[in-house]
Amino acid sequence: MAEGYGYGKVILFGEHFVVYGLPAIASALGSKTIAKIEKSDRFELVDNRMETPGYKKGKFYQQKKSLELMFKALGINPEKTPFRIVLEGDLIAASGIGASAASCAAIARALNKEFNLGLSDEKINEIAYEGEKGYHGTPSGIDNTAAVFGGLIWFRKGSPNVIERIKIKQPVEIVMGNTGITADTAEVVADVRKRKEKEPKRFEGIFREYEELVNEARKAFGEYDLKKIGELMNKNHSLLQEIGVSCEELDTLVNIARENGALGAKLTGTGRGGNMVALTPGKELQERVAKAIESAGFKVIRSEIGV
Ligand code: MEV
Repeated sequence: MAEGYGYGKVILFGEHFVVYGLPAIASALGSKTIAKIEKSDRFELVDNRMETPGYKKGKFYQQKKSLELMFKALGINPEKTPFRIVLEGDLIAASGIGASAASCAAIARALNKEFNLGLSDEKINEIAYEGEKGYHGTPSGIDNTAAVFGGLIWFRKGSPNVIERIKIKQPVEIVMGNTGITADTAEVVADVRKRKEKEPKRFEGIFREYEELVNEARKAFGEYDLKKIGELMNKNHSLLQEIGVSCEELDTLVNIARENGALGAKLTGTGRGGNMVALTPGKELQERVAKAIESAGFKVIRSEIGV
């Protein structure tokens, strides 16, 4: 039996903008997806991950496509050499926390071991990227990069991608709030593209504003200026509202977090459902914000960035 892992992730700056070659900042979460490969007489996938109700069913066909793409890239034929993939781990399968990328990374790592392929982490990342294409056609690559390498990263899509580690003085507590809505990344990304084509001037202005903001955020991480990072997260959320990827539930979560003292809060990942992230340094503030969100009836994740 072989085993592999992939980290969940939180995008702190730049979902959607990253698709167009602008830089983004993401952090791996402490929670992981684990993939186990077991001997079997036929190919089988047993998905034991905890989930937001309906997530796995909603992603079923995309997951199938994703597996086919990874097998092809690895040169593995599950008809000829059958095996069972078992997915588990402490990362909940939900939108906005890199669940698909974490599972791709975990499966690529486990298959690498099972078939003695000798792949480097860079190659594992390429395979996980292939897998991500099954979920959303033209991924930027930020999710699989965070899932494979972990840590806090500065990412810019290109050829090659720019991937730089951001070092911070000390990890910072965050709270993520789950709307309970599963979003279709391919659909939302395609819709943003349509809007951008319809209103190029307006989008150009928003993109310029975002680029300035993310450069300031990088500087603020270097200076460990958490207040500034929070303010910039709030601004990033406004820009995401402007491009049409927030929703009522996400805005509610953002407001609860801010009203309870979070230094900043924004949607994270695809949007139109999925998760919100709030910057809540210190256990006390983290607990206050998490409890407030739970009291409003939403599920939360308490985590840290920059570990
Ligand atoms: C999804 O987690 C992040 C998006 O920016 C898509 C991508 O980067 O491929 C919405």
